[in-house]
Order: sequence, then structure tokens, then C-alpha cells
Amino acid sequence: MKLVSTGIKGLDWMLGGGIPQGYLVSVIGSCGTGKTTLGLHFIYEGLKNGEKCLVISFDEDEAGLIQTAEGYGMNFSAHSDDLLIVRLDAEEVKKKVEGFEDHLKRIFETIKPLRVLIDPLTILETLFDDAGRYSFLAKIRGIVKAIGATGIITGESNIEKPSSSKFGIMEYVSDGIIVLKTYRENELEEAILSIEIIKMRRVNHQRKPRPFTISNRGIEVFEESELM
Ligand SMILES: Nc1ncnc2c1ncn2[C@@H]1O[C@H](COP(=O)(O)OP(=O)(O)O)[C@@H](O)[C@H]1O
Ligand SMILES: [Mg+2]
Repeated sequence: MKLVSTGIKGLDWMLGGGIPQGYLVSVIGSCGTGKTTLGLHFIYEGLKNGEKCLVISFDEDEAGLIQTAEGYGMNFSAHSDDLLIVRLDAEEVKKKVEGFEDHLKRIFETIKPLRVLIDPLTILETLFDDAGRYSFLAKIRGIVKAIGATGIITGESNIEKPSSSKFGIMEYVSDGIIVLKTYRENELEEAILSIEIIKMRRVNHQRKPRPFTISNRGIEVFEESELM
């Protein structure tokens, strides 16, 4: 099994080296927990290796994402030949849902990426019922798998069950699930961020959540530490 580095040293350690090549991994967390940041690390690692990378964004546009990445010291602009960032409007996708699969396939074909980030899927999920959500997520999975890419899809967590995605469907199409959370001892304390691997098919990964921070260098996981 070939492992793909996430670009985050402590997370690679938790995974036993990285994400198995070809896996589709869900990153789930509430707003501001670092889902996009984690995804950008994953993409930047690919760019540094000279790999073709695709980002499908339902949130920030290309300029915004590049600015966010550069805020973490990731020089995305230096790799523009290997990077395709496509911003999709969820409402537009919903209107033309029949054509969506072909549209997405064409985007994948133009770059044939080794790494894919789709961020965040929740916006699109919100527009469908359960059957519709499952159906388009399965289509996305099919497209990522067909091209042989390793992928990260991000989603908001369920308020009542913070280790689950908002609709509980992303989990079914994923080979792995990483959950990001914030803990707050009291209102006056700074929140502590934690990262946990809930599932990674056929991998003997770490099971304990670990603390992490987001700084101007992006995410740093403290693999030596345990949450109190
Ligand atoms: N350049 C930076 N330096 C330090 N922290 C940053 C920087 N950029 C973003 N952050 C932190 O990261 C958070 C956003 O993380 P993000 O990955 O966008 O979360 P999510 O996608 O889960 O909503 C911000 O709220 C801020 O705390
Ligand atoms: Mg985000």
C-alpha cells in the first residue's frame, strides 16, 4: 500500500505514514476547526512533489483560497501549472444536477489529478434529500476512484454528534474519516483543537485524539501530547 503524505507531520504519524493512495477521506468538523487548512496542506504537499492537484470549492473562490494558502506560507502561485481550482455554485449545480456528473468528469479529465480536495461538501448536501445526497456523493466517489486520485472531502459536523457529518452520508462513501473538534474548559479559556482518526480502512492508525494548533504556518499536530 503506497502512502500519501498529508503535508502535516503529526497527522502522517497518526496515520502510520500517510493516507493510502487512492483513498477518499472525509474531514469533518465545525466551522473554524481547520478543515480547509488541512485540505490546503494536503494539496500543497502534492504541488511540492510536482503532482497535478484539483480543488473543487463550494466556498471561497480561487483568489481567496490562494490568499488563505499563502497566509500559511504555502506558495501556491509558484505551482499554477499543476493546480486547478474550480469554484462551483451549489445552487447552479442543483439546477443542472443531471449535467453535474459530466461536468465534474470533464473537470477531472482536463487535469487528471493525483490529489483532489472538495471543500466543503455540506453546502451541496444541504440542497438534496437523503437519497439525492447519497446518489451524488456516490457519483463523486466514482469519479475520484476512476481517475485514481487520492481525495479529501470536507464537511460540517452534526451539532448533536460532533464526530459525525451533518447528514451522516459522507461517511458511507469514505475510506477514512478524520474529525476535528474544539474543546473549551470555560468561556474565558482559549479553545483547544483536537484531531482524531475515526476510521482508515486497512490501516492500524492511532485512535487517541491529539491536540493541534493553527498558526501562520498552518496546522501543527502535537503527536506527543494527549488531551487532558
Ligand atoms: N494565517 C493564519 N494564521 C493563523 N491562524 C490562521 C490563519 N489563517 C487562518 N487561521 C485560523 O484558522 C481558522 C480557519 O480555519 P479553516 O481551515 O478555514 O476552518 P474550516 O474550514 O474548518 O472552517 C481561522 O478561524 C483562524 O483561527
Ligand atoms: Mg472551510
